[in-house]
Amino acid sequence: MDLLLFFILVLSVLVVPRVDARYDYGRDVRRALQRRQSTQPAITTGAPRINGTIPFRTEIRKLEEYHEQWNFQDDPYSWYRMAGIHAAPFVDYGGVAALPDGGLNGYCTHVSNLFPTWHRPYLAYFEQVMYNIVQYIASLYPVGPQRTRFQQAAQTFRMPYWDWAAMPPSDQSLLPLSIGGEPDIMADGPNGPQLIANPLFTYTFKPLDPSVFPEFPFFEWNNTKRAPTPSNSPRAISNNSDVARMLDAGLPQYQTRLYNLFANNGNYSTWSNEAWIPDASNSSYDSIESLHDTIHIAAGGDSGHMAIIAYSAFDPIFFLHHANVDRIFAMWQILHNDSWVEPMAALQPTRTISYGDSQNSSTNLTPFFAHDGQFWTSDMVRDHQVFNYTYPEVASKNRSEVITAINKLYTDFSAARLSIKPGRRRHLRSEGFANSTESRLGSNKSTKGAFWNKGTPDVSFVNRIIKAGHYNEWVANIVVNKHAMNTSFKIHLFLGRIPDDTSTWGSSHDLAGSLGVFAGQMTGFGKQGRQISGTIPLTSTLIDHVYDGKLQSLDLMDAEAYLRDNLEIRVVASNGTVVETSQVDGLKISVASSYVKSAKSNAELASWGSVASRFDLYAP
Ligand SMILES: *[C@@H]1O[C@H](CO)[C@@H](O)[C@H](O)[C@H]1NC(C)=O
Ligand SMILES: *[C@@H]1O[C@H](CO)[C@@H](O)[C@H](O)[C@H]1NC(C)=O
Ligand SMILES: *[C@@H]1O[C@H](CO)[C@@H](O)[C@H](O)[C@H]1NC(C)=O
Ligand SMILES: *[C@@H]1O[C@H](CO)[C@@H](O)[C@H](O)[C@H]1NC(C)=O
Ligand SMILES: *[C@@H]1O[C@H](CO)[C@@H](O)[C@H](O)[C@H]1NC(C)=O
Ligand SMILES: *[C@@H]1O[C@H](CO)[C@@H](O)[C@H](O)[C@H]1NC(C)=O
Ligand SMILES: *[C@@H]1O[C@H](CO)[C@@H](O)[C@H](O)[C@H]1NC(C)=O
Ligand SMILES: *[C@@H]1O[C@H](CO)[C@@H](O)[C@H](O)[C@H]1NC(C)=O
Ligand SMILES: *[C@@H]1O[C@H](CO)[C@@H](O)[C@H](O)[C@H]1NC(C)=O
Ligand SMILES: *[C@@H]1O[C@H](CO)[C@@H](O)[C@H](O)[C@H]1NC(C)=O
Ligand SMILES: *[C@@H]1O[C@H](CO)[C@@H](O)[C@H](O)[C@H]1NC(C)=O
Ligand SMILES: *[C@@H]1O[C@H](CO)[C@@H](O)[C@H](O)[C@H]1NC(C)=O
Repeated sequence: MDLLLFFILVLSVLVVPRVDARYDYGRDVRRALQRRQSTQPAITTGAPRINGTIPFRTEIRKLEEYHEQWNFQDDPYSWYRMAGIHAAPFVDYGGVAALPDGGLNGYCTHVSNLFPTWHRPYLAYFEQVMYNIVQYIASLYPVGPQRTRFQQAAQTFRMPYWDWAAMPPSDQSLLPLSIGGEPDIMADGPNGPQLIANPLFTYTFKPLDPSVFPEFPFFEWNNTKRAPTPSNSPRAISNNSDVARMLDAGLPQYQTRLYNLFANNGNYSTWSNEAWIPDASNSSYDSIESLHDTIHIAAGGDSGHMAIIAYSAFDPIFFLHHANVDRIFAMWQILHNDSWVEPMAALQPTRTISYGDSQNSSTNLTPFFAHDGQFWTSDMVRDHQVFNYTYPEVASKNRSEVITAINKLYTDFSAARLSIKPGRRRHLRSEGFANSTESRLGSNKSTKGAFWNKGTPDVSFVNRIIKAGHYNEWVANIVVNKHAMNTSFKIHLFLGRIPDDTSTWGSSHDLAGSLGVFAGQMTGFGKQGRQISGTIPLTSTLIDHVYDGKLQSLDLMDAEAYLRDNLEIRVVASNGTVVETSQVDGLKISVASSYVKSAKSNAELASWGSVASRFDLYAP
C-alpha cells in the first residue's frame, strides 16, 4: 500500500501539470528535484538493493490504494523527456546523437531481436529516476514513526507491472481501476490526504507541441487518450470502459497466446520479435512483440496514444505494460536459458541503428550508459537482477517454480490443463469506470468467461476435447506488412454473427480473436516493406462452440470443416475504417493445428507436436 502511494505520488510529480491538481507538499518539490542538465548521459544503474536483497516489482492490483504528479518538458527527468526516449518528439537524449539520417527515429527497437533487451535498461532508468524521487518524498513526512515507516518502505520501491494475461479478481476488469477508474483520487501523502488528478488516468502535455503530432486529431489533443470518444474529434474524451470491455473480451486470447509462447517457442530469434522469418515448421509465427502489439492497441482503445508506436510511451499505462513484458521475458529466459540473441540485420532503423546494420548481443542499447563511455548491451542485461529488481515468479530462478506459476496464472481458457483442473467461472466486469465525461465514463458489462471450464467438467464434454491426454490446438497464422496502411490496424477473425456496428467488433461475442498491428505515424519509421507475423489462437473459441453443441469436437475433420465454413476476416484501421482484405498489403492467413499433449501436473507445460498447415484462409 505504501508502495502504490509512492508510485502515485512520484507520477503526480512527473505527470500532472496543473498545480491545483497535483499533490501539494506545502513546498516547491519541483525545484528541489530539478537538478541535472539534459546533456547529462543517462547512466543507468537501477535502484539500490536493500540490506543485500533485491525488491520485487509487484502486480499493480496488489498495490492498489492511493495516488499523485510534474512536468517541465525540458527537464531530462520529466515524463515528457523520459517517455520521449522511445520515439516522439524524436530528440537526442543524454547527449547521444542521432545518426545523420536517424533524426526522425526514436531509440526504441521494434521488429528487432533487441526488442526485449532494449526495453530492460529503459525501464531500469525510469525506475531509478522514480526511486530517487520516492526517497525525497519519503523524507518530507514529519519527523516521527510515520516518516521512519515511509522511508523504510521507500527503500524497497520498484515500479509495478500490469499483468494483462492473468484472470483479474472476480468482478473486476482486466483494466485495473487504479489506472482507468477515476480521473481524481485521494492521496494521503506527507502533507495529509488530498484530492488530486489521477496520474495513471492521463498525461497532459505542457504545453502541447502540435508539430510533434502531425496527425489529426493528435495535434489537437492536450492529453493522452484511451478509446477517444467521439473518435477523430479534437474534443474527444477517453472512454476507459470501452478499453476495459475490449481487454476483457481479449483475455482468453492473450492468455492462450502467452501460454503457447512459453510452451511452444524456445528460440529467442523468433520468440523475441515479430519479423517474419519463413520457417518450414510453421510453428514460430507468434512472438512476445506481436502479443505486446495487440495489448498496445487494446489499451489505446484502437485510436488513442497507446495504439500508435511513436506516441505510446506518453500514456502512463505504457510502463506498467512494459514491466509485464519484461517479466514475461525473464520467465521465458528461465525456461529456455540456452537460447539468446543471435545476429539479425536491422529491419527498422532507430536513432543510432541504420536499416540493415547487424544487431547482435553486443550491440549498444542506446542511450543507456552502464558507465561513462560504455553503453549497456543485451549480454550485459541478460540477467535482469543486474538492475537490482526482480519479480515474484523468477526470484529463485527455479525452472519448476516458473512452470508452476505459468500453470496457475495462464491456463483458465486452455485445454493445456483442462483434464486436471477443477475449472472456475469468473465474470469480468468493466464497471466502476468513470462515466460519460472525462471524469465519469461507465458501463457494467460482463464478458464471456471460461464458461465451459466451470465446476466439475462434464466428462462427455471433456472427452470430446481431450483424448488420450492430447488435444488439437488450432491457430490462425498471419503474415502482413506492418506498414500496410500508414497507421495501426486490427485483423479480426469472427466465428458467428458479425455485428453491423463496427465500433463494437473489438468486444463482440462472436469474435474469435484479433491481431493488433502496431504501427502508425510514418515520421521516423521509413517505409521499407516489412513483413511481420503473429497468431490468433482459435482453440478456446472452438471449445466454447463444442460446449454449445455447434461443433462436434476439436478433431481434424470436424474442426477444419467448421473453420472453413465459418471463419470470417475483417480488417479495421485505427481510425475505424473497414478496409477490404484485398487492399491489405502482404496479408496471408493460414489455419494450422498441432497435436498437443496436455500437462499432467503443475510442474510441466503442455507439449506441442509439429504444426501442420490445414488450409489457407486468405492468400492473394
Ligand atoms: C545493485 O546491487 C549491486 C550488488 O549489491 C551493487 O553493487 C550496485 O551498486 C547496486 N546498484 C545500485 C544502483 O545501487
Ligand atoms: C535493513 O536492516 C536494518 C538493520 O537490520 C533494519 O533496521 C532495517 O529495517 C532493514 N531495512 C528494511 C527495509 O528491511
Ligand atoms: C489545448 O490547450 C490549448 C492551450 O492551453 C488551448 O488553447 C486549447 O483549446 C486546448 N485544446 C483542447 C481541445 O482542449
Ligand atoms: C464508452 O464505452 C462504453 C462501452 O463500450 C459504451 O457503452 C459507452 O456508450 C461509451 N461512452 C461514450 C460516452 O461513448
Ligand atoms: C532460431 O531461429 C532462427 C530463425 O529461424 C534460426 O536462424 C536459428 O538457427 C535458430 N536458432 C537455433 C539455436 O536453433
Ligand atoms: C541455465 O540453467 C542451468 C540449470 O539451472 C544452469 O546450470 C545454467 O547456468 C543456466 N545458464 C545460464 C546461461 O543462465
Ligand atoms: C555486432 O553488432 C555491432 C553493431 O551493433 C557490429 O559492429 C559488430 O560487428 C557485430 N558483431 C558481429 C559478430 O556480428
Ligand atoms: C525448485 O523448486 C521445486 C519446487 O518448489 C523444488 O522441489 C526444487 O528443489 C527446486 N530446485 C532447486 C534447484 O532449488
Ligand atoms: C453516470 O451518469 C449517469 C447519467 O449522468 C448518472 O446518473 C450516474 O450516476 C453516473 N454514474 C456514475 C457511476 O457516476
Ligand atoms: C453493475 O453490476 C453490479 C454487480 O453485478 C450491480 O450491483 C450494479 O447494479 C450494476 N450497475 C449497473 C449500472 O447496471
Ligand atoms: C482511415 O485510415 C485508412 C487507412 O490508413 C485511410 O485509407 C482512410 O482514408 C482513413 N479515413 C479517415 C476518415 O481518415
Ligand atoms: C506451412 O505453411 C505453408 C503455408 O500455409 C504451407 O504451404 C506448408 O505446407 C506448411 N508446412 C507444413 C509442414 O505444414
